[in-house]
Amino acid sequence: MRIDIITVLPELLQSPFNHSILKRAREKGLLEVNLINLRDYASDKHKTVDDYQYGGGAGMVMMIEPIAKCIEDLKSQRDYDEVIYMSPDGELLDQKVANKISLLQNIIILCGHYKGVDERVREHFVTKEISIGNYVLSGGELAAAILVDAVGRLIPGVLNDESSALFDSFQDNLIAPPVYTRPEEFRGWKVPDILLSGDTKKIDAWRHEQSLQRTKERRPDLLSE
Ligand code: ADE
Repeated sequence: MRIDIITVLPELLQSPFNHSILKRAREKGLLEVNLINLRDYASDKHKTVDDYQYGGGAGMVMMIEPIAKCIEDLKSQRDYDEVIYMSPDGELLDQKVANKISLLQNIIILCGHYKGVDERVREHFVTKEISIGNYVLSGGELAAAILVDAVGRLIPGVLNDESSALFDSFQDNLIAPPVYTRPEEFRGWKVPDILLSGDTKKIDAWRHEQSLQRTKERRPDLLSE
């Protein structure tokens, strides 16, 4: 999967994709993430990408011209499945949305800043808007990093044990069961006996029961989806 991220702050996104699972995904050639500096598509010597809004009001708006040039340049090189704009107005990111996006080949992610982008960008270039939650960030970059992380680990072959994504919280609208590792006992706090029993059938049943119980207690909203 190829992800091209259009941003005015490429430095902010240097690190998130260079660690752990996403780093491995890139090394295996399963994920390619490119950072594109929108200012490279500005037409003046000051590399301006934003301007005052028509009608007055505080806050700058990202201009359509550099964004159009940038997206058209990318589209001249390959086809894209989606042009995603990170925005608090968008569809809320959840595991289902991440699953769907992980099946795509090429996507563009556009990060907004200031007051956001000129509305015509959304009308004519953007195919999907995604929000990571009901709060406003100062830019789309951190939201884009979260989207790429959530999607990248779902790309087939990225996780060593493919089944491990299947047991993630939310994959079946249930949150994950509790997990334990050594030691068996710490300050008198014991690992549940069932997990030490070696009986995989019983362990699976226990985990499922724990997931159900936890979901009922902590996230009942997931059970009614
Ligand atoms: N940009 C600003 N706030 C955002 C949010 N909540 N989700 C996605 N992009 C954003």
